[in-house]
Amino acid sequence: MSDLFSKFDPIIELRSELLESGVTDPFNLVMEKVESPTVAICNGRRTILLGTYNYMGMTFDPDVIAAGKKALDEFGSGTTGSRVLNGTYVGHRAVEQALKDFYAMDHAMVFSTGYQANLGVISTIAGKDDYIVLDIDSHASIYDGCALGNANIVPFRHNDIEALEKRLKRIPEGAGKLVVLEGVYSMLGDIAPLKEMVAVSKANGAMVLVDEAHSMGFIGEHGRGVAEAQGIIDDVDFIIGTFSKSVGTVGGFCVSNHPKFEILRLVCRPYVFTASLPPSVVATAATSIRKLMDSADKRAHLWENSKRLHAGLRQLGFTLGTDEPQSAIIAVIMPDLETGAAMWEALLDEGLYVNLARPPATPAGMTLLRCSLCALHSEEQVGEILGMFAAAGRATGCID
Ligand SMILES: Cc1ncc(COP(=O)(O)O)c(C=O)c1O
Repeated sequence: MSDLFSKFDPIIELRSELLESGVTDPFNLVMEKVESPTVAICNGRRTILLGTYNYMGMTFDPDVIAAGKKALDEFGSGTTGSRVLNGTYVGHRAVEQALKDFYAMDHAMVFSTGYQANLGVISTIAGKDDYIVLDIDSHASIYDGCALGNANIVPFRHNDIEALEKRLKRIPEGAGKLVVLEGVYSMLGDIAPLKEMVAVSKANGAMVLVDEAHSMGFIGEHGRGVAEAQGIIDDVDFIIGTFSKSVGTVGGFCVSNHPKFEILRLVCRPYVFTASLPPSVVATAATSIRKLMDSADKRAHLWENSKRLHAGLRQLGFTLGTDEPQSAIIAVIMPDLETGAAMWEALLDEGLYVNLARPPATPAGMTLLRCSLCALHSEEQVGEILGMFAAAGRATGCID
């Protein structure tokens, strides 16, 4: 019998080498208690959270929690069914209405995760003879959606408008074309030139899907994302998003003005063949989304945090993923995995949690310490964070 697990040997070896060096496993941290969107207890120690994507700090919002408790009491712990059978409750309709209001769009469809939203929408609208042109740094869920639908995949260089145009022009006349972009790319925290890219896509007869997972709630006047900030949201055919970041719970969605959009509810397999979100989850999401509509002050504070952290880290001598802060993600580039893991552990010992990211999730084989800021981080906490980076950076030799 051949061992089907032998293909994992290289990663098993890499992992054991890392752990043998005595470093704490960066992919096995336990949050023993979570006190707020910005503080948890890890290894018995107060730890500032700087790697949670909880951009708008909605996880402990009293209205959000009350809505979840009420739904749990009134509707029970789960739906035990698909949206097309017994799994559509008033709460699912209510969260879809909240999304339509938030984006000012005609249609909204909620999935059990953002991963499933990409998997479902992409695989259903772009099939065997269609072409999907996508940024090479796209999220795994976008690639998996392309693979599930069996479309022809045409990647182009990250954020390169000319490369996108060239690829589009090579596609056979008359073929179905979908361009898939992200508002914010989560590894380096950079944004896409959506205005130019959407114009090029439309000029070449393609539909456009934009994943705004890391911009919803924060970027754009109403928090609708990078497409809103760049003034082209009405030209985007499909926006994908998640409840697991700014919304502060779990779930995914697609919003659109396409007149035939609702048919997806019958033909999209990752929507049909899975149980719907629990009533408490959709109730928390709907409450959170409605509050995000009215969160301009929090958005402004989050921008301040992002600018302050970016400038401070630069001043300390760290190499960052972007020259200017473009989102709430700030990526610190590490020379290699060993140094990255040592720095990650030194930060944890200081009382700071960030994400360690490495290939294949990262572009160009980079090891990154990814920081995601929250609107509820105080100015003092950002100061504390910088102090911890200074101490850990010096202890590990990352900075002088
Ligand atoms: C760009 C992007 N799209 C989709 C997802 C999936 O979201 P979810 O956590 O809801 O599955 C993520 C999550 O990391 C993401 O970064």
